[in-house]
Amino acid sequence: MKNIIIAIDGHSSGGKSTMAKDLAREIGYTYIDTGAMYRAVTLYCIENGLVSNGELNEEKLKTLLPGIEIRLQYNPATGRPDTYLNGQNVENKIRTMQVSDNVSKIAALPYVRKALVKQQQAMGKEKAIVMDGRDIGTVVFPDAELKLFITASPEVRAKRRVDELLAKGESVTYEQVLANVVERDRIDSTREDSPLRQAADALVLDNSDMTIEEQKKWLLTQYRNRIEQINGES
Ligand code: DC
Repeated sequence: MKNIIIAIDGHSSGGKSTMAKDLAREIGYTYIDTGAMYRAVTLYCIENGLVSNGELNEEKLKTLLPGIEIRLQYNPATGRPDTYLNGQNVENKIRTMQVSDNVSKIAALPYVRKALVKQQQAMGKEKAIVMDGRDIGTVVFPDAELKLFITASPEVRAKRRVDELLAKGESVTYEQVLANVVERDRIDSTREDSPLRQAADALVLDNSDMTIEEQKKWLLTQYRNRIEQINGES
């Protein structure tokens, strides 16, 4: 069967990664979480003193960026890739509120995007990937065979994120997380370089009132329909 690129974009904490990961496993594709790559650069900046009082030392980041090595390695126990930063597994560290609070600003920097987009395009060279992010269907793979745009209300997304963080033992409030979700939507959608927007040819899903099972089923159906269509064309 023909291998394709599946691009999944949408707002933060919209459940994209769960859907993408499950689909990839079901159809034997590689799942790539591009948000994790922006989070890893952010963690690097925090750990190396490049962020202080919310201010980023851009000159230093520009110099150090070529030495930041990010690798995604499949973890059979979780069924998703773990993120490695310069050889260290940082999968848990990149999901904290501190990283979430700083990541959108760093992801808005054109030189950071340029470096990561290049790596993402290389990862998709052989196709057979499900990649999720904000600009996958618009910038990274504008010719992806299947593009999906996933969203849900900010309140629903904040609630899901709070549950996730509390389960991991982080102490957060719903108000704090909702403010972060709204602020990240604002920065991601209004930045100059590759803002979050729906590709004209993307299929849209608002999953506010859907269970994970329903979302999984919807996604698999879209994949099968697209493959059937491609087979019919050739
Ligand atoms: O999907 P996430 O919440 O882990 O993404 C973290 C941040 O990275 C998010 O605020 C936007 C940014 N991002 C991006 O700008 N482009 C991508 N392709 C993926 C994520």
